[in-house]
Amino acid sequence: EKGGYEHFMLKEIHEQPAAVRDTVSPRIINGMPDLSQDGVDMQKLKDYRQIFIVACGTAMHAGMVGKYVIEKLARKPVIVDIASEFRYRDPIITKDDLMIVISQSGETADTMAVLRLAKEVGAATLAVVNVVGSSIAREADMVIYTHAGPEISVASTKAYMVQISVMYLLAFELAYANGTIDKERCMELTAQLGQMPDIIRETLELKDTCSFVASKLVNAESLLYIGRGLDYALSMEGSLKLKEISYIHSESYAAGELKHGTISLITEGMPVIAVATQKKLIEKTVSNIREVKARGAMVILICDNSIEVGEGVADYIIRLPQTDEQLMPMAAAAPLQLIAYYTSVLKGNDVDKPRNLAKSVTVE
Ligand code: M6R
Repeated sequence: EKGGYEHFMLKEIHEQPAAVRDTVSPRIINGMPDLSQDGVDMQKLKDYRQIFIVACGTAMHAGMVGKYVIEKLARKPVIVDIASEFRYRDPIITKDDLMIVISQSGETADTMAVLRLAKEVGAATLAVVNVVGSSIAREADMVIYTHAGPEISVASTKAYMVQISVMYLLAFELAYANGTIDKERCMELTAQLGQMPDIIRETLELKDTCSFVASKLVNAESLLYIGRGLDYALSMEGSLKLKEISYIHSESYAAGELKHGTISLITEGMPVIAVATQKKLIEKTVSNIREVKARGAMVILICDNSIEVGEGVADYIIRLPQTDEQLMPMAAAAPLQLIAYYTSVLKGNDVDKPRNLAKSVTVE
């Protein structure tokens, strides 16, 4: 049942190219993103005052990527929140707003509660869900199913990848409907998204490098993931994955915030994983890397293969295949998952069933 892989997690990491293809290709019509078959009317969607994206854990991290690309391309304001925070903070949401909830299982209690809350105030609701017929899918006004197939490993991998694929489809179509990108740019981005299964496949070939990096992390007590913009969103997911299955403490930090307190944690040999795929931000991130390096950090840099990195900036570099900058989270996700996976394996942990956790969190 594990298809020759040692763990479900590794199998599911390798299923990502197919999962993305199955999720994305039926929704590209004549080179343009098209969610109308999912019952999504973009002309209506573009007129909502405010978009909320609410979810838990990894699904919330997918929402963070959604926020960046929707705001960047469609120029609509997006608030992302954790379901268990959103529901209790008397949120300002009205019938003029759109609530997007993201959930692999479709059964997460807090996410479900947020969906109900949004419906009560008359907001439009859209669920991005993997499990067909699940509670969240049944109650939302609109559903976009991700087609990852069953995800068995507690640590979510392929579900995250298809959730972000849907965020891209949404952002591209919304941006075009909103007139903030033209047809040519929309087709270009959509074509790149259509190519992502191949790019992800290429990134899976980095597994030996990732396992080597894991061997450098396995004895660490604590580490940091840093990035800016989309790379920060991705760092959050990388960090969660590592904590969840390797039991090594880690934190993700917006690179520019380090010097406001956290940099004091850096001691000789502490690993710092820096994600730097966004050209406009690379210089800034590199200067943050130099700051941690000067304090003794062991730096692992994840960047695309076009970026020139000066001598001595990083101890180890993971080079990603190139794609449109906006889509780089899809290229960086698998290496981050693999680093977590191999670290967990090296520690001899129960990779697919980490302690204290359940696959689906149906309690509040
Ligand atoms: O089923 P859901 O997507 O609603 O689950 C949300 C989180 O519980 C889930 O993503 C969790 O964070 C994962 N175990 C992380 O790998």
